[in-house]
Amino acid sequence: MTQENVRVLVVDDELGMREGCRKILEPEGYIVESAEDGQAGLELFQRRGDFAIALVDLNMPRMGGMKLIGRLRELDEDVVIFVITAYAAIETAVEATRRGAYGYIPKPFTPDELLLPVRNGIERRALAIEAKRLREERERRLLEVAFERTKASTIISCMTDGVLVINRDKQIVLRNNGMMRILPSCATLSLSSPLSALECPELEKLIEEVLSTDTGPVIASREVALDRCVYMVNASPVLEPNGDVMGAVAVLRDITALKKLDVAKSMFISMVAHEVKNPLAAVENYLTVILKGYVDGEPEKQRDMLERSMVRLNTLRTMVSELINLTAIETGNFTVKRSVLGLTQVVTEALDACRERAEGKKQELSFSCANGAEDVQILADRDSLFIVCTNLIDNAIKYTPEGGAIRVQVAQNGAFLKLSVEDNGIGMSDEESEHVFEEFFRVKNRQTVKEPGTGLGLSLVKRLVEMHDGAISLRSTPGAGSTFTLSLPIAARMGM
Ligand SMILES: Nc1ncnc2c1ncn2[C@@H]1O[C@H](COP(=O)(O)OP(=O)(O)OP(=O)(O)O)[C@@H](O)[C@H]1O
Ligand SMILES: [Mg+2]
Repeated sequence: MTQENVRVLVVDDELGMREGCRKILEPEGYIVESAEDGQAGLELFQRRGDFAIALVDLNMPRMGGMKLIGRLRELDEDVVIFVITAYAAIETAVEATRRGAYGYIPKPFTPDELLLPVRNGIERRALAIEAKRLREERERRLLEVAFERTKASTIISCMTDGVLVINRDKQIVLRNNGMMRILPSCATLSLSSPLSALECPELEKLIEEVLSTDTGPVIASREVALDRCVYMVNASPVLEPNGDVMGAVAVLRDITALKKLDVAKSMFISMVAHEVKNPLAAVENYLTVILKGYVDGEPEKQRDMLERSMVRLNTLRTMVSELINLTAIETGNFTVKRSVLGLTQVVTEALDACRERAEGKKQELSFSCANGAEDVQILADRDSLFIVCTNLIDNAIKYTPEGGAIRVQVAQNGAFLKLSVEDNGIGMSDEESEHVFEEFFRVKNRQTVKEPGTGLGLSLVKRLVEMHDGAISLRSTPGAGSTFTLSLPIAARMGM
């Protein structure tokens, strides 16, 4: 067997020895290079590299063999080094091995006494290189696996959704931070605790469904209410490669906000339907009476019915436009046409629009201006302000019993113009007051039940006021009355 392209370095100060090695090795296919002392050998090794074998004499000028062995080993951990010496002694052998020599070839030697150890050395080197490659490969894969695991567990732990993994024996094997937030009992339990220790029967039932093998693997989804929140729980089986169920994973997503939205939407639709139904039924009745001829020849009654129909239709139109406005604000499509105007004029118009209703309830409706507020101007959208004023005055009339008093006042307050609408009506508790500006909120009690409304008025008012860089506040006492105060920035004073 010849050794093609295997490079051998011979370092010996005896020319005869160097040439002897060359003569034995080259016919076998080895590429032999040589140096006459340790220093020259080291330089050659550094310059040419990739020697598989180094045959090193011990006693040499400039740099001895022992030192050279150490230096070569530092440069290449795979090079197989043999010591060639006539002075074989056990201590030298031990020292040479300690420094990194692989074997010993005593001088003088026969061709076979050189070729055999060199061949062994090459095989050993090949094995060492292969072992190293395998070791590196394994380490790389271990690193990859560790990285993948860390990545997966980081992702799972960072998920806002709760993740819970259960084994076939219904023991907890994984729960992420999200899960511990949702079910604090999860955080105190150790891994391998039974699922039942979570004390969440709905979750337990869902996971049991998934783990049950009777029906084959199933995916179960259900809404579960926990501590005032609603979660959509999706549980699915964890399968072994052969399809057996080895556990289950449950993912809990907080859908509380979506549920609220859903409830609000349903409430909205049913309220709108209700509010639309009543006036429509009334108008239909009046028209039926007229069309069937029940009031033929009674023009006064006909006119009265038509006028009543108009009133109902007007209320309906107001409600629809309130809804359109709110939706427009919500979607950013509400346009305000600002102009410099006096608030008192708008308030007077709103009072005129509401006066009839106040008179119907024998309420006293008064208006006053303080601190020369009538001369103050604001930059605002007239239609929006009219909506704001009529809503506040309308509420005051609606939620004040017959014979009550409603006082509307406009006053200057520093850089702001203040509008207050005060009534001595039914009032509200602090808790109720907190919610009045929320959409669809209506106080439900004996006094409010007969009053029509969608609970949209004040939320529209608040949005419009905020669009004008203003603010609205409320003071209310049950049984004593309410005062809504809004302030708007002043644009100018007339005559200035
Ligand atoms: N002046 C007030 N006095 C007592 N309660 C009031 C007063 N104004 C508002 N509220 C309460 O706040 C709730 C919300 O008012 P809001 O104006 O938003 O709706 P609404 O009057 O019920 O219906 P809408 O104005 O859409 O016709 C009312 O249902 C009522 O319970
Ligand atoms: Mg209202």
